[in-house]
Amino acid sequence: MSGFFITGTDTEIGKTMITAVLTRYFLDKGVEVFPYKPVQSGAEWKGDRLVAPDTVFYERFAKRQFGEETNTYLLKTPSSPHLAAAMEGKKIEAKPIINQTQKLLNSHELVFVEGAGGLIVPLNEEETMIDLIGRLSLPVILVARAGLGTINHTVLSVMALKQRNIQIAGIILNRVTPHELPEIEEDNRRMLEKLSGVPIVGTFPYINEDEMEELDVGHILEKWNIHVLEEAMEDESRKAY
Ligand SMILES: Nc1ncnc2c1ncn2[C@@H]1O[C@H](COP(=O)(O)OP(=O)(O)OP(=O)(O)O)[C@@H](O)[C@H]1O
Ligand SMILES: [Mg+2]
Repeated sequence: MSGFFITGTDTEIGKTMITAVLTRYFLDKGVEVFPYKPVQSGAEWKGDRLVAPDTVFYERFAKRQFGEETNTYLLKTPSSPHLAAAMEGKKIEAKPIINQTQKLLNSHELVFVEGAGGLIVPLNEEETMIDLIGRLSLPVILVARAGLGTINHTVLSVMALKQRNIQIAGIILNRVTPHELPEIEEDNRRMLEKLSGVPIVGTFPYINEDEMEELDVGHILEKWNIHVLEEAMEDESRKAY
């Protein structure tokens, strides 16, 4: 049993994409993985069932179903979770999420918990995402933009996590636009490692919708420092016993 909390420098930065990619990669390697999205705003009706778009994406990418345990709070309003909950007469509490994470960690080899938005996104009037991460005690994978504008957001996120003594396993850079300048990307990588002191696990390329199903994830991740995550997993497993 080990797990990671997947957060990002922003909303729409690729947390779901990276969670899906890592899920498929480790499943292909024979690791029994479970992706968990505790708080989903912008949930959608599919027939008579409310579903999380992020879970639908994991399932499509990993080519398997994960069932209802993948979500704890499904909110229809596409806004910050605290506002969506308030508008729907609900309150998001950390406790059910902590309990569900523990249950999943006990029953799966590897669990990825995807946040909502970035670190200082409110869950309710008292707590933000970073408070939840601190209480879950999972190492963090930080998803950041590969191109222009990433240094400021990424280093600020790392500073916030370090201030709380939250372990950061690594940073994954994601190409959210098709034409990133290689010189900028290369320099971003170098400066991010220097300024944050956190290892860069790898860069994920921009992919088109129609490439997704047949994407050779193993081939892309061959170039990554995936051992950074594997070592964090081993440390986690040792802690558990
Ligand atoms: N590498 C990529 N190549 C092409 N499109 C991408 C890539 N990464 C993300 N996207 C697209 O960008 C959008 C946002 O990505 P994603 O849903 O993974 O972000 P997120 O950080 O999980 O957002 P949220 O905060 O809403 O959970 C999606 O439409 C996704 O398909
Ligand atoms: Mg997402």
